[in-house]
Amino acid sequence: MAFLEVSNIHKNFGKNEVLKGIDFTLEKGEVLVIIGSSGSGKTTLLRCINFLETPDRGSITVNGEELFKAGEPYSDREKREKRLHFGMVFQQFNLFPQYTVLKNITLAPELRAFKGKKLSRAEKKKISAQIEEKARRLLETVGLSEKAANYPCELSGGQQQRVAIARALALEPDILCFDEPTSALDPELTGEVLRVIRGLKSSDRTMIVVTHEMNFARGVADKVIYMADGVIEEFGTPEEVFGAPKSEKTQAFLKNSKD
Ligand SMILES: Nc1ncnc2c1ncn2[C@@H]1O[C@H](COP(=O)(O)OP(=O)(O)O)[C@@H](O)[C@H]1O
Ligand SMILES: [Mg+2]
Repeated sequence: MAFLEVSNIHKNFGKNEVLKGIDFTLEKGEVLVIIGSSGSGKTTLLRCINFLETPDRGSITVNGEELFKAGEPYSDREKREKRLHFGMVFQQFNLFPQYTVLKNITLAPELRAFKGKKLSRAEKKKISAQIEEKARRLLETVGLSEKAANYPCELSGGQQQRVAIARALALEPDILCFDEPTSALDPELTGEVLRVIRGLKSSDRTMIVVTHEMNFARGVADKVIYMADGVIEEFGTPEEVFGAPKSEKTQAFLKNSKD
């Protein structure tokens, strides 16, 4: 059984059929890159996988545990818990502007550690110190140790996105998802973010990356999905999809994205 199994995901917005039966599997430590034109349903797919949207049909299984099955009622609390299997890095960073870089990373892990528990002040202090130590290690991983005390507005876009990556990692997700992580950045700032993602691949993270950066995609992917109009038009290794695409739609898309 694969680590992630996404089966027959359908999603409509009113009469607009946005996802028309998406199936794929991913093994632990693999990187899946999703490419496709704007409006093809990439963001909606990631949002379905992260429980930010509810699919109309289909199921999602991680590590043998069925997290989602269409039609089952899930409470908000259940959805929040299930969502913890996934980390999400958005195009627009979405850092909390009122908190320092360090606090942006420690906030969610602290909430999770304290929630529903009766802890003494000393116990809380000890847990906070551990969470902070880990956050500092993550900041080192993304090359921003010296920015811990700064506020997001004092950072470049590329630095903010690297903080967002550290924040997602702090919750120890099984699978880290990126939705066009460099699309909001000036071209000279994309490299530092892509480098961090490449580094995570070498540390064996399971990742799903939606991107328009074709060279990066080719280098980092174990598997590639080309999406068009809510279906998987082409699926394969980077050599297959980029080197010898079978579908005419894929060929046309790749030709255009070279310009
Ligand atoms: N919340 C929503 N409500 C209605 N329509 C939506 C919503 N989110 C996305 N869509 C529609 O779904 C389609 C796919 O969008 P999206 O998943 O954002 O594509 P992509 O990320 O590939 O550009 C578009 O036609 C878009 O207008
Ligand atoms: Mg999108």
